[in-house]
Amino acid sequence: MCKNCVQCEFAQLKKIIDETGRTESSLITILHKTQDYYGYIPKEAQAIIAKELNIPASKVYGVLTFYSYFVDKPKGKYQISVCLGTACYVKGAADVLKSLEDELGIKFGETTPDLKFSIAQTRCLGDCSNAPVVMINDKLYGKVHPTEVATILAEYKEE
Ligand code: FES
Repeated sequence: MCKNCVQCEFAQLKKIIDETGRTESSLITILHKTQDYYGYIPKEAQAIIAKELNIPASKVYGVLTFYSYFVDKPKGKYQISVCLGTACYVKGAADVLKSLEDELGIKFGETTPDLKFSIAQTRCLGDCSNAPVVMINDKLYGKVHPTEVATILAEYKEE
């Protein structure tokens, strides 16, 4: 089964709904499974879920946007999380975030057009002694200075 043809996408989503159940109480589970499969929850999928569960599309969208885990746009190959917890914020995390946004030409919550990078804000990553902290996928960068951002990104841009 491919992920690129609309018929296959629809078939997979129908399978997810069939397996999970067509009740409103299944909505969150269906959203989880949909995001696991597609990497995000496309608008078309939201419409199909609403129709299949016989609930308003606004209800699906409302749940999706309530939980920060769910996303309705594709994420980049490299997900950059900038910690804006208190320790990181005090040590200049906002400047690091600005530098990342300037370097990539996107704002937090967005993905570069080539689907390579996404920027997200997060709260304490548990490494406060190394604030400000940035995480790219599973790799932590501590004591990040805004002027180091270009160098950090360069290793990912080359891949
Ligand atoms: S506040 Fe950023 S790692 Fe704790």
